[in-house]
Amino acid sequence: MSKEEIIQNIVRLKKEKNAIILAHYYQDSDIQDIADFVGDSLALAQWAAKTTADIIVLCGVHFMGETAKILSPEKRVFIPDMKAGCSLADSCPAKEFKKFIDENPGHTVLSYVNTTAAVKALTDIVVTSTNAKQVVDSLPIDEKIIFGPDKNLGDYINKLTGRNMLLWEGVCHVHEQFSLERILELKKEYPDALLLAHPECPKYLLEVADHVGSTSSILKFATNSDNKKFIVATEAGILHQLQKENPDKLFIPAPPEDSTCACNECFYMKMNTLEKLYLCLKLEKPEIFVDEETRIKAVKPIERMLDISA
Ligand code: 13P
Ligand code: SF4
Repeated sequence: MSKEEIIQNIVRLKKEKNAIILAHYYQDSDIQDIADFVGDSLALAQWAAKTTADIIVLCGVHFMGETAKILSPEKRVFIPDMKAGCSLADSCPAKEFKKFIDENPGHTVLSYVNTTAAVKALTDIVVTSTNAKQVVDSLPIDEKIIFGPDKNLGDYINKLTGRNMLLWEGVCHVHEQFSLERILELKKEYPDALLLAHPECPKYLLEVADHVGSTSSILKFATNSDNKKFIVATEAGILHQLQKENPDKLFIPAPPEDSTCACNECFYMKMNTLEKLYLCLKLEKPEIFVDEETRIKAVKPIERMLDISA
């Protein structure tokens, strides 16, 4: 089947089945272009909570599909490839996170949305990179807080809020791989380019960035800026929307340590393809399920986050 035929079939199946396609900014550009909505982790959760569609196809990674299912249990939720996981979510197994919580009693537990349903079930409030500061600021200044699993985001929020949250030592393999040396070389080559970085990047990179923010924040900053050139330190999929919304501006992906690569891609995000999306809609699989006991516990901290972000 040609690409055009695949696209036609996706559009037809979507209508026939009253399905909605939600895609993260890190998805392949063809998927972003066919999606009903493209957004960051927070916006995807907000859409999943409010959609009237019968079926949600979440073009992103497993925890995003799980979050959609937790918020909309009456809907069927599919992701194009069940193996699309997340190194950050993997760095925080529920059993070990529970031990960490038990060893540090009296703390409010904040978890990044990049976690399994089982970890969310152990959490008081979920956060995304868009609202982490807002959620922390909503808590009394003397509140003791555990923050997991991303240590870079946690450290950055500690700096912004003057808190001393206890951090889980997790990282995202994509954001950990940027090369400061190669980025500084690029800065010399493009002295008027601004460096935009996601808070999952290491501290040494955030310290030299001109703007630090989630994917949607990076998009907003670049769109509203009078500057014409940007070096972008997050997963390269975001460049598609950046370029689409700002055709007159130059976006340069920040390079990784590996000198044979020009940009950093999330291996998991890129497991989803247009063809897998078509098959997923056609065959109605792979489907996301969350056991009801876990879901009931996990929905509360996600709803608390959505209330704070409303
Ligand atoms: P945001 O889109 O919320 O900034 O998250 C980035 C990310 O790592 C998603 O996996
Ligand atoms: Fe997970 Fe990192 Fe991929 Fe985001 S970019 S899905 S945090 S591995």
